[in-house]
Amino acid sequence: MGKFELYGKNIIGEEIKPNYKGIISKKFIISPFTTLNTREGFWQERKKAWVKIGIKSELGREGERHSGVLHKSSSGTDGKYIKGDCWRGSGNSIFDPVLTELMYTWFCPKYGQIIDPFAGGSVRGIIAHALDKKYWGCDLSGEQIEANYEQAFEILGRDPIKIKISSASLRQLFNGCKSTYIKDICHAKCCESSTMPDGVLIIIHPSEENKIINAGGKVIDGFLQPSKNKKCIFKDNNNLCILHETNNKPFGCIASPFTLNKNNTLIIRNRYRLLKCYNDGNKKPAYIVFKKSLELLFGKALTEKLIKHLDTGGKDVLIKMPFKNYQILCDNDNKKHNKINIDKIPFWVIGDSFDKLEQAPDADFIFSCPPYGNLEVYGDDPRDLSNMTHTDFIIKYKRIIEKACNKLKDNSFACFVVGDFRDKNGNYNNFVSDTINAFRECGLHLYNEAILITAIGSLPIRITRQFEAGRKMGKTHQNILIFLKGDAKKATEKIKIKLF
Ligand SMILES: C[S@@+](CC[C@H](N)C(=O)[O-])C[C@H]1O[C@@H](n2cnc3c(N)ncnc32)[C@H](O)[C@@H]1O
Ligand code: SF4
Ligand code: SF4
Repeated sequence: MGKFELYGKNIIGEEIKPNYKGIISKKFIISPFTTLNTREGFWQERKKAWVKIGIKSELGREGERHSGVLHKSSSGTDGKYIKGDCWRGSGNSIFDPVLTELMYTWFCPKYGQIIDPFAGGSVRGIIAHALDKKYWGCDLSGEQIEANYEQAFEILGRDPIKIKISSASLRQLFNGCKSTYIKDICHAKCCESSTMPDGVLIIIHPSEENKIINAGGKVIDGFLQPSKNKKCIFKDNNNLCILHETNNKPFGCIASPFTLNKNNTLIIRNRYRLLKCYNDGNKKPAYIVFKKSLELLFGKALTEKLIKHLDTGGKDVLIKMPFKNYQILCDNDNKKHNKINIDKIPFWVIGDSFDKLEQAPDADFIFSCPPYGNLEVYGDDPRDLSNMTHTDFIIKYKRIIEKACNKLKDNSFACFVVGDFRDKNGNYNNFVSDTINAFRECGLHLYNEAILITAIGSLPIRITRQFEAGRKMGKTHQNILIFLKGDAKKATEKIKIKLF
């Protein structure tokens, strides 16, 4: 098992009760039957244990997107109960973590790569990594992805990383970035790149892409796009950064003088010795003139300690860097050298799955919960599946499924959690069948179908009117569709569930 034991204590020491109902459940967490009942005590207990590790998947879905302007629920439905996010109305709007855990444990190989074209909240990503799998998820909502990263860093990145400080490297002398010096002498050449055709190489970590976009930047594939004159768009006429001392300045820009070498030692980036400010003017040690960068990396208290240590002639020293900073520092450098190295936390990308799936890694499992047509409108972006006619929705939905299936390795499974929804006349759209057809058209087989029995919620209050008025039965289930690419035996072999 991964970091989260099935039975015993979870990451914050909460007891997860066992489900001693027999050998079958013991072997597979619960019996792999075609009805899965989220109302059972065991399910609820286990869900609580997952939620208690800190998952707040509903973050990023609050406010404008769900407050009426953009968020609306179409009328011919069973009411509020079945929104596009299947879990809304049950009192807790997160995607079900127990269902996630079961699907990953049953259908995805150990250390397997999951892809999710409609990522939504953080649950599916965080649980994947908690179970030692890898997750790639795409969503159009920048706010959602930003909130997901915050959650992932908080839950999966609790332990700081010990790194070494190179005292010699940090004692190199620089002038420091005073605004008069920038205006008159150095022109902040550190923001520019002589080797890039665009004139700049400014990396935006996916966790901060949303804030950069909101500040007016354009980010393509993780790179901030320059202005026409090949400069950073946040540079003013005096070469000063307009984002300086705001929360919007990219992590990579603040941390820029520093990098980690292969031995996990913090050094001054080699290219800084080519800048005008190296060994110029004030000639102060890097750890003094780039103090703000150190504060970003280690926090104020540790930076003070480090400065004292170096000021009093201290040698190389080990120091703890918060996991989040370590990860961003490494990711940014890896991006420069074209490597993907995101292991400990999920990788979420902002954008239209239709475009982004091509960049997704090859997958051992597809797991997603798509928009259910326009049942819940997620935003006014014309690329948003919830924001188009039903015909256009189905066309695009199928093409996204096709792109995801192309990424799925042979002899692997895929799972979509869906629920049918009604059209404006109150008739069902046959969305479950559309989903099945979409996968089958890509050559996958429909391999399992299970019914997820969901909470009753406020249905007893609404059912009389709904049933008397139009004979609409109260919907308390979702459909779990499992598809197979290739051969079932080979796919099963790859998974080998050995929980004990
Ligand atoms: C049903 S929700 C997923 C909700 C999910 N159950 C959860 O845990 O939050 C579908 C998601 O698809 C996203 N979406 C809609 N059209 C998209 C597109 N073309 N590309 C990527 N994401 C899209 C929406 O922003 C929304 O977050
Ligand atoms: S690091 Fe050097 S080149 Fe860059 S702004 Fe500071 S003083 Fe100027
Ligand atoms: S955001 Fe600011 S520091 Fe970063 S490259 Fe642009 S002007 Fe330079």
